[in-house]
This record gives sequence, C-alpha cells and structure tokens, in this order.
Amino acid sequence: MKLFIDTANLDEIREIASWGVLAGVTTNPSLVAREGGDFIQRVVEICEIVRGPVSAEVLAQDVDGMVREGRLLADLSEHVVVKAPLTEAGIAATAQLASEGIKVNVTLCFQAAQALLAAKAGAAYISPFVGRVDDVSWDGNELISQIVDVYAADPEITTEVLAASIRHPMHLVQAALAGAHVATVPYAVLKKAIKHPLTDSGNTAFLKDWEKVPAEERDIATAVARWRASRG
Ligand code: G3P
Repeated sequence: MKLFIDTANLDEIREIASWGVLAGVTTNPSLVAREGGDFIQRVVEICEIVRGPVSAEVLAQDVDGMVREGRLLADLSEHVVVKAPLTEAGIAATAQLASEGIKVNVTLCFQAAQALLAAKAGAAYISPFVGRVDDVSWDGNELISQIVDVYAADPEITTEVLAASIRHPMHLVQAALAGAHVATVPYAVLKKAIKHPLTDSGNTAFLKDWEKVPAEERDIATAVARWRASRG
C-alpha cells in the first residue's frame, strides 16, 4: 500500500517527504482554503516537492465545467491527478477526462456501488471516506474491503482504492490489511503512527547502556577506523 499525505500545507509535505515514505499528496477544497494563498501556485509547488500523484479538486458542478477545470489543472504538471466528486456530473466528467488520458481521483465515495461506477468511468483512483463512514455508524474498513473485492472480481478494472478520511493509525493498518492500494493520511496521524512510548524508552535505555562502554570506544566512526587500521 502506498502512502499519500492528505494536506495542502507545504511544511507538512516537506517534512513527511524527508522521511522518504511519501508517494503522493491529496488535497481538497477544505484543506486548500485552510492554507489560503494562491491555489494554483500551491498545487505546482506540491508537485515539485513530491514528484508523485497530487490530487487537485475541480470546483465546477456541471460536466462541461468540471472537464474544463480538469484539463486546466492537469496541464499544470504531469503529476496532477484531477479530483472530482462522486456525482452524476463527476462520473461523466471522469469518463471524458479519462478518455483524454487525464488521471482522475473520484472522491466522496460512501458505498461500493458508487466505486463500481467510478471504475467503469475510468477513474485512476476511488476515494472511500473511512472516517466519515464510521461517523455515521457503519464500518469504513468494511467499505474498503467491499470495494477491493468488487474490483478484484472484474479483471477490466484498474482503478486503485485510495483510503481517505483516515483519522488514526489503526485506520491506516486496517486499510492496508483490507487491500487498499493507497492510504492518504493527515500529517497528525502520520506523526502518531511513527510514535510509540516503548520505542522512545527503549532508545533512551540503549543510549544509557552505551555510556558504560569506555569513552574512547563509543564513537562508531573512530571504532571502524581503528578496526581497519588494526587489519593493516
Ligand atoms: O481525504 C479526505 C479527508 O480530507 C476528509 O477527512 O477527517 O474531514 O473526514 P475528514
């Protein structure tokens, strides 16, 4: 499963990209509005940082408008993936954009039947919203499983399942176990996912024990140089 970050914040993207784990970015109008500034400039900068798929959402609600905006966004960078909502217009626009070779991430998916239609329209990604399904008392992870199964049953489908609305690290693990191809994860959840108190206390204990080694033997570079010299 690939990891994307779900944010429009450049500092967050740079930091997680520096970990070497980031394959792409998803944004949505809420995330972009939170950051302010020039939307297009932001999309271009994100593409330059990540050099992987970067989802940027159309705002028009009619087919022609979505197609027009989708073409403009896709023209910004080879990395742009056009994001369109799972509405009738969104599906029609997806079919048109996909026929032109433009990748589309169909978003706001809440049932497997919607995901099937998005795939048939040629979506590159389908974005089921795990957390928001949980919010309304169903199981977001069950939705991921259903979509993975529906897609696996149809050899013509190449659409990738992109688990979105990830709220905590267990959502991430569950999405991977359910067979999602991608999870897009908020910065705060990625920071939580890397953190464990036993990792920190174990690391502190290792360093404390290392202090028992004579001072002149503690530095690895010095120790390696001494070992090489001893071999002639
Ligand atoms: O990727 C979709 C995401 O941004 C929505 O997350 O937590 O608002 O449901 P949330």
